[in-house]
Amino acid sequence: MIDRVCDLEREALEALGEAGDERSLEEWRLRYLARSGRLSMLLRGLGDLPDADRPAAGKEANRVKLALESAHAAVSRRIETARLEVATSIDVTLPGRRGPRGGLHPVTRIVREIVAVFGQLGFRVSEGPEVEFDSYNFERLNIPPDHPARDMHDTYWLDIPGRSGQILLRTHTSPNQIRIMERQRPPIRVVVPGKVYRYEAVDATHETMFFQVEGLAVDRGITMADLKGTLATFARAMFGSERRVMFYSAYFPFVEPGVEVAIDCFSCGGSGCRTCKGTGWIEIMGAGMVHPHVLRGVGYDPDEYTGFAFGLGPERVAMLRYGIPDIRLFYSNDLRFLRQFH
Ligand code: PHE
Repeated sequence: MIDRVCDLEREALEALGEAGDERSLEEWRLRYLARSGRLSMLLRGLGDLPDADRPAAGKEANRVKLALESAHAAVSRRIETARLEVATSIDVTLPGRRGPRGGLHPVTRIVREIVAVFGQLGFRVSEGPEVEFDSYNFERLNIPPDHPARDMHDTYWLDIPGRSGQILLRTHTSPNQIRIMERQRPPIRVVVPGKVYRYEAVDATHETMFFQVEGLAVDRGITMADLKGTLATFARAMFGSERRVMFYSAYFPFVEPGVEVAIDCFSCGGSGCRTCKGTGWIEIMGAGMVHPHVLRGVGYDPDEYTGFAFGLGPERVAMLRYGIPDIRLFYSNDLRFLRQFH
């Protein structure tokens, strides 16, 4: 019995030398020291020994048990110390690794910038639906069904049973002029950014989906001078304080008079270059005084209230600002393009 206990001690201590981590140490403990381990199994044989041999064998078994326990404790301590050393060898004062970070889309940046400039001029922000009624997108903006201006807005119609020809993807943000005026009374000063849709051939300057920012100001006594002052201030805030601003006659059914707004070319200063296509001027938006028919349609008396409206294209502003040659780049999700604006 004593020999077998000593053999087990030797085997166990040798095996302990191989245990290099917590898991193998625990496996060792289960194998040799635990209640169903090898040593306990041996000790169960003590009872079968002759009375005379039992005390010596019991004493030896106890000694081996204690020896294995203290060897186990020593190895356990060594493993723990090694673990702590690894942990404390991490320099917590090193700067962290940066994770990948997204950025704002160039059109989002420009929309926010436009909205912020008008915000400083006292305009609040509103939004409206992209799926619109014909009545808001056309009719109530003075564009009846047979009006030639509809040709400029190649329309995506929604095929809804019983409502054919009534529901569409808005072709401009101007329906929000009606939506805002019919739910509040003047004074109104609001800008409406959003996506618009046109069913047209895509090329370097035309997309089927793009953004517009609509603007509307209605109050007693608003005149063309307010339109000019507001839009010139905007143009200079966006394109440089030295910009010259030109207003020239243009036609939109829902304004009278209607204008287009141009700035002198910030690229060549007006002598003519690629950005301004040799003209020295860059057109940046459409605008005008809200048409009396439109005001009457929302229940405003045009003798009491007047207003101006404008609409501009953020993609066009971004293309001018950053020298982007093709509008399709914005929505083809090429990260090499988009990352340039992060
Ligand atoms: N809605 C017009 C367009 O899409 C732009 C515009 C807005 C013109 C407001 C005048 C006033 O072309």
